[in-house]
Amino acid sequence: MTIPNHIAIIMDGNGRWAKKKKRPRSFGHKAGAKTLGACIEACARLGIGTLTVFAFSSENWNRPKKEISQLMDLFVRSLKKETPALHQNNICLRFIGDRSIFKPTLQQKMLEAETLTRNNSGLVVNIAVNYSGRWDITQSTKRMLERISEGKLLPDDIDEQLFESFLSLADSPEPDLIIRTGGEIRISNFLLWDASDAELYFTPVLWPDFDTETLNQAIATYQTRKQHCEHTECNTCETQSDECLSSNSKC
Ligand code: FPP
Repeated sequence: MTIPNHIAIIMDGNGRWAKKKKRPRSFGHKAGAKTLGACIEACARLGIGTLTVFAFSSENWNRPKKEISQLMDLFVRSLKKETPALHQNNICLRFIGDRSIFKPTLQQKMLEAETLTRNNSGLVVNIAVNYSGRWDITQSTKRMLERISEGKLLPDDIDEQLFESFLSLADSPEPDLIIRTGGEIRISNFLLWDASDAELYFTPVLWPDFDTETLNQAIATYQTRKQHCEHTECNTCETQSDECLSSNSKC
């Protein structure tokens, strides 16, 4: 059975989880951070290559100031507390998104975590902060245009592969499975370019309640869909999908 090599998750539902317990939203985010730790552990155990999580979207700046500041404190605290253990477990931490707007302490913690874990060969965890899919496509375009104006690139050089090499996840394989918790059935400006061939899995489970069982359900659904894909004729190239897959076409 094919295990997805790259899983991406939109961790949604912390606020509603806390509300159900008559607790402040910050309580939900704290529980969400714990769930993320357990999810990283589970993915590493399952042999997943890459896990990308949406921790803070560009749109999250519209939240109340107090909630944003509590989230930032939680990021700093979690990084301080969890980075050594992640390093010991051979996990490689990376951050994607425009981090220039964050406080220097947080930027410093991110850099330290990346530097410490950069040579680890286990699970790669990409944490998306102040990230949005549209931002990623825009920054990629800007950087390509800079290269053109410097004379280092010609417009004719631009193709999908080159474009991808400027995106935040240039060093990661494309996500195979994108999970969204919390019941909304939307991509919400997450990995827009990268999601083109991913299986999407939506669950009503609120992020703090996301456990190994829910993860396994998502993976099992992915496997069933892939199996189905392998046994049906490919509509795109009209060959049997075995041939289609071996010639690396999309099924
Ligand atoms: C969405 O729930 C969650 C977030 C905006 C923040 C995600 C943050 C964590 C899981 C904390 C841990 C992260 C790290 C990197 C330590 P929501 O507040 O939108 O929930 P709601 O839809 O129920 O209101």
